[in-house]
Amino acid sequence: MSETPGFTEISDQAAYADAVQTAVAAAAAYYGEGDSGLDDDAFDRLVRGIAAYEAEHPDHVLPDSPTGKVAGGAVVGDVPHTVPMLSLDNVFSAEGLESWAAGLERRIGRPVEQWSVEPKLDGLAISARYREGRLVQLVTRGDGVAGEDVSHGIGMIAGLPGRLAEPVTVELRGEVLMTHAQFEDANTARTGAGYPAFANPRSAAAGSLRARDRDYQVEMTFFAYGALPLDGVVTELASLPHSEIMARIAGWGAHTSATTPVAGITCKQITEAQDQVAAIAGLRAGLEFGIDGIVIKADLAADQEQAGNSSRAPRWAIAYKLPATEKITRLLEVEWNVGRTGIIAPRAVLDPVEVDGSVITYATLHNAGDIARRDLKIGDHVTVYKAGDVIPRIEAPVVHLRTGAETPIPIPESCPRCGDEIDDSQKRWRCAKGRACHAIASVRYAVGRGQLDIEGLGENRIDQLVQAGLITDFADLFTLERDPLLELERMGETSTDNLLAAIEGAKAKELNKVFCALGIRGTGSSMSRRIARHFATMDAIRAADIDAFQEVDGVGPERAGVLVEEIAELAPLIDKLVAAGVNMTEPGATRPATPGSSTTGSSTTGSSTTGTVEGEEPAESDTGALPLSGMSVVVTGSMTGPLAELSRNEVNELIERAGGRSSSSVSARTSLLVAGEKAGSKKAKAEKLGVEITTPEEFADRVKDHL
Ligand code: IVH
Repeated sequence: MSETPGFTEISDQAAYADAVQTAVAAAAAYYGEGDSGLDDDAFDRLVRGIAAYEAEHPDHVLPDSPTGKVAGGAVVGDVPHTVPMLSLDNVFSAEGLESWAAGLERRIGRPVEQWSVEPKLDGLAISARYREGRLVQLVTRGDGVAGEDVSHGIGMIAGLPGRLAEPVTVELRGEVLMTHAQFEDANTARTGAGYPAFANPRSAAAGSLRARDRDYQVEMTFFAYGALPLDGVVTELASLPHSEIMARIAGWGAHTSATTPVAGITCKQITEAQDQVAAIAGLRAGLEFGIDGIVIKADLAADQEQAGNSSRAPRWAIAYKLPATEKITRLLEVEWNVGRTGIIAPRAVLDPVEVDGSVITYATLHNAGDIARRDLKIGDHVTVYKAGDVIPRIEAPVVHLRTGAETPIPIPESCPRCGDEIDDSQKRWRCAKGRACHAIASVRYAVGRGQLDIEGLGENRIDQLVQAGLITDFADLFTLERDPLLELERMGETSTDNLLAAIEGAKAKELNKVFCALGIRGTGSSMSRRIARHFATMDAIRAADIDAFQEVDGVGPERAGVLVEEIAELAPLIDKLVAAGVNMTEPGATRPATPGSSTTGSSTTGSSTTGTVEGEEPAESDTGALPLSGMSVVVTGSMTGPLAELSRNEVNELIERAGGRSSSSVSARTSLLVAGEKAGSKKAKAEKLGVEITTPEEFADRVKDHL
């Protein structure tokens, strides 16, 4: 876990005064309109720098200083809170958590009876007042003593029902945020209505909650993290453990983190809380909403009461802060790259910035429409977001930091690779030449490991074949003749004969490899194996419609649509492969008895129209007798023992030979995780979800008959 982060060095009183002014302005923006020019990390560093300077110069502390104040002293609102809405103190490491817990136990003079551990939601605090079960008022935190009435937000916030399941009079406290999907929708609606995009989900929630009249709709989500008695109505709430209060809140119908993969837990030892911190941190990247830490609370009311509160924060709770996943940097330029399928994809080049331990230089921009919708400009300050393995993405420009020197992003008018026309009929633009635009890349992919695996065909050789006009796609490889090859530079007799032999050998590859070689968007080795096993012949694949594809494990309507569309587009290439005598059947696979899936392919090689592929026995996997039958298996970390030499693709093939389905991400549907050395977040997630975890050695033993 992270060390305590650094702080901004402040050398003299003038720098200190500047720093206070910057921090106060940033806090006001953060808690007000929500568009701060500093990212969270920079703000925290600045406030720590101010605190360090004040510790050294206690006589020079300015009254405006944000230190020790809830919301950094940014004051908004005039509705007094029933009980002050406090902030939380922070720790940044396991040692920090341990020493905080030890300090708390010293203070109360006994061990804390039970801890509760839950996510720290990255939104803004809200108090929701319910009278006899009806939601009557929403108030922001403000300065912690009084907040702003934002009751106009009632009805815009999912998880905050207008009426609770019981007629209780109670104040719920929690966080309002935008999920990633809500943020995307909000920015689409906002920019569509002619306003600048929100910089990030947090400021989007803050801005949306405070805006009274807007001509576009947005939705937010509430997560309760506490409840208090209201209007002096006597309830037992004050004496219940925090975990019990959370269960009550959920029972009343308000949203809590209990329904998410990072539901709160209770535990007896602070070391167990530490394990849960690691588990939540591991799950962070896959969550639908932002978290910026984990909150550890003494669970029992008696422990809380005895610990009490400071003016700023309770002494019985602490925030274990996670590193920021969002930073502000500059958009320097946009590159347009043509992929092997002819898709023209924009990529943002950023002023390098460190986010959560790695330096980000590029971020995905999806398509031209996306750039226009986000109103991005070269030179903009942009918020960039990265979580775990996710490709970094630009969230939005920080519009109020514009100087006027920003320039529009040049949008290509012709294919940046070949100069041909652009087909802009779809969201993702494509060169009108399609795959032919970047033939070298698509042939390279087709002959690569995991596909046709033809040795002796590196990028230079393919380039040479394309330049000489001998091939335009990978099907042409199978009709290459010896003499024209011998005329090429650096092609002696031996290398020519070796190459032709390797190409001849590739004709016998299983259907799944041939299908994978087609390079259909979003269809890699594992999906190709599933499709080939399901349909058994290329004819059956070509005859399949969207419904038929959706019968394949892991194929939804969108992917099925892409498959149908691309297979139709690839018909001339497939015909050439068939004519060249390339195998079009999957050994051991059985055709589905789907009504109406008649064969319409132009020609067939060795495939029967129904039942088992000629000359093959039905696969054992269809009998359910295999060791991994019906199991979804994920592999992570580096493999050891008998699996050490296998590529990840080969391990996935092994899983499928043994009757299982290989998957790349851990979910509640995962049956088994094979965790090798240096397994990281997938292991943490599997532990959290109670998924069976095995070592590569144990796994190899389980599937030894199929190795
Ligand atoms: S407990 C008196 N629990 O973080 C206890 N706060 O940085 C105070 N927050 O003001 C809050 N998730 O707005 C608590 N699970 C959680 C939380 C949480 C997010 C916010 C809350 C608080 C801020 C402190």
